[in-house]
Amino acid sequence: MQNQTKLAVNGGKPVRTKPYPKWPVFGASERRRLLKVFDSGKWWYGETVKEFEQKYAEFHNARYGVTCTNGTAALEIALLACGIGAGDEVVVPPYTFMATASAVLKVNAVPVFADVELETCNLDPKAVEGKITRRTRAILPVHFGGLPVDMDAFKALAKKHGLRLIEDACHSWGSQWKGKGTGALGDCGVFSFQMSKNITAGEGGIMLSDNEEIADAARSYSNCGRGKDKPFYEHFVLGSNLRMTELQAAILLGQLERLEEQTLKRERNAAVLEKALEGHPGIAVIRRDSRVTRRSYHMFSFRFLPEAWGGASREQFLKALKEEGVPCGGGYPIPLYKNPLFMRKGKGPSFCPLSCPYYKNGMDYRKVFCPNAETICANQCWIPHATLLAGEKDMRDIVRAIAKIWDHREELKHG
Ligand SMILES: Cc1ncc(COP(=O)(O)O)c(C=O)c1O
Repeated sequence: MQNQTKLAVNGGKPVRTKPYPKWPVFGASERRRLLKVFDSGKWWYGETVKEFEQKYAEFHNARYGVTCTNGTAALEIALLACGIGAGDEVVVPPYTFMATASAVLKVNAVPVFADVELETCNLDPKAVEGKITRRTRAILPVHFGGLPVDMDAFKALAKKHGLRLIEDACHSWGSQWKGKGTGALGDCGVFSFQMSKNITAGEGGIMLSDNEEIADAARSYSNCGRGKDKPFYEHFVLGSNLRMTELQAAILLGQLERLEEQTLKRERNAAVLEKALEGHPGIAVIRRDSRVTRRSYHMFSFRFLPEAWGGASREQFLKALKEEGVPCGGGYPIPLYKNPLFMRKGKGPSFCPLSCPYYKNGMDYRKVFCPNAETICANQCWIPHATLLAGEKDMRDIVRAIAKIWDHREELKHG
């Protein structure tokens, strides 16, 4: 009887010792494609990148794809291509990776934080509406963990206030909202192919859009400001060299062949976990929306409910879960606005917007407080996406490990 043994963290037998799958998954297709490009000696932007852009856009039901060096660069070119510039306000969530907000600063615009929903970890449309001013130019929601935000609500809000809607889809490769892929649901959207991501070339990024003007502008910004079908040494906008290489695109084409199957597998396994954990007195699973027709899982995340665990902390729970053989972590530890960058704790030159000559609103991020984001940062638990590539039986081990820790929760405090 498993649940009668001691917790592994206190010297008992762990629920499992067999490791879960590792990431990245790669093989013959990546090797063959990579060697083909390598042997061709043509490693610079060309046919392989174009093939990847077209296939990736198609997979997300988007018309255009513009690749670049990483997701951070993709955010910057997307903002520039949407005409966001000095002093413009862009509403962002505080529960995300830094790039969502730092890209806004990089184009001299001002990130304005609105709170996320406790039940989804996604940007709350009602909170966003409360942050809209005459300076607001765009909304930049993140499909956190691969769960699409309420795009109907955000589209209506963007239309009502004449705003751009840019999706940070850096967790949502293959996710769908009402049957259409994320990325081109709003004006445009961006993806990351960094090492930890569900499709990777070590680094890499792409912006998707159905809008030709935005796609052309993004290409220009990522390609030294060159113009479409214009001479090589003519430059029209202040761009940069952010091009993806043929070698990266070769790996991504191999990865893309597996993306659908892996996405569906993770989704099936996540459903097993969700069903088993729904209604658990110590855990809140993410709320699913029936308009989400496919969900990529960048991680399986759930909220630890501290009041139910008899004084044990999330950190003690996570340590115990790890010892039972389940990979896990606590995710983003603080809302973005609590980073030294925003708290003015850093040394060195002052930065925009706090010293931005175009912005005179006196933005002070030390006054920002988003209660849901604070709660989530303190209590959310993440199980990495590669874990969801194991079998259904392996998901049962996760459920058993959580049940065992729950049964022994009194011991947790001594672990
Ligand atoms: C939500 C989100 N946005 C943007 C990025 C930036 O992507 P990259 O690391 O490729 O620059 C990441 C990467 O972790 C991310 O998670």
